[in-house]
Amino acid sequence: MSQPTSSRSSLAEALSGWPPPVLDPHGPFSNTVTSLTWVLIALVTLIFALVCAALWVALYGSDKLRARLGGEGVVKWFGLIVPAGILFLLLAWGMTLFAGMTAIQGDELRMRVSGNIYWWRVSYLDAAGKEIHADANELHIPVGQPVVIDMVSEDVIHSFWVPKLGGKMDMIPGRTNRLKLQADKAGVYGGQCAEFCGGAHSLMGFVVVAHEPADWQRWREARLARQQPQSAPAPVNDEVLRGRQLFGDMGCAACHRIAGTAAQGVSGPDLTHIGSRQSLGAGILPNNRGTLIGWIGDSQSIKPNNRMPAYRSLQAAELHALAAYMESLK
Ligand code: CUA
Repeated sequence: MSQPTSSRSSLAEALSGWPPPVLDPHGPFSNTVTSLTWVLIALVTLIFALVCAALWVALYGSDKLRARLGGEGVVKWFGLIVPAGILFLLLAWGMTLFAGMTAIQGDELRMRVSGNIYWWRVSYLDAAGKEIHADANELHIPVGQPVVIDMVSEDVIHSFWVPKLGGKMDMIPGRTNRLKLQADKAGVYGGQCAEFCGGAHSLMGFVVVAHEPADWQRWREARLARQQPQSAPAPVNDEVLRGRQLFGDMGCAACHRIAGTAAQGVSGPDLTHIGSRQSLGAGILPNNRGTLIGWIGDSQSIKPNNRMPAYRSLQAAELHALAAYMESLK
């Protein structure tokens, strides 16, 4: 399966943090948000110009001009009726746009994303809302199809945001919010938590990979095949085998799940496909041997107070073995 524009530069571009590409929409829902933004900018610019003009007249205008423009009528119209009217129209328009961005038509791909300190649990759902397969910190979607995402939180309030593909939606403990995304072009899109959720909030990113529909179908079939018992790939060499043993001996399975193995922990990110993920540490690092080793050995230095302890006592060979095992999990 060909990865859509999965070059290092597109990942780097997707992950480069600031400023978020808020005026560069790549799908119909982000287009809507961008249109609203431009209308707001145009209106506030017009209002600012009018206020400046009124101020100028008040300070420097001739008595005759002030008499002609002044009086109760001006205050009534431009201080009350016009602003209230503009705000009301904007509210009505915004609500109509928003309703279109969350309404379910029935042809959408369904997903659920759960916010966690500081990572994202990703579930692919069937039409009835039941999980079919799971992942973490990376969403794979087909180009041209809307995706409805149920947003939940497992601890504090987070906010899910992919600037190029859609609006922003809070994840609030105890409730389910909904957001629609759609990509019109294959590629890698960066996402970011947009609600302060703790010290490492700014390091809570993720990646959306948009595939051409046929590519996405192949991707999905491969993912579904990995859900079967004993579907985990066999160790390809001794290092991977050692890593797999270490993973078991160190108790990693208490928190992490790897489909097709005995590892069924759910409190940490699902590792079934970690070897094929574009990023590591929830959208903050490229995924390679070096960053895997760094993360396993001392994730606390990379993302302070994340829930994975640092394993500083591991030897270099052990870290390599664990990283090799992670790389083998495609
Ligand atoms: Cu999660 Cu900010």
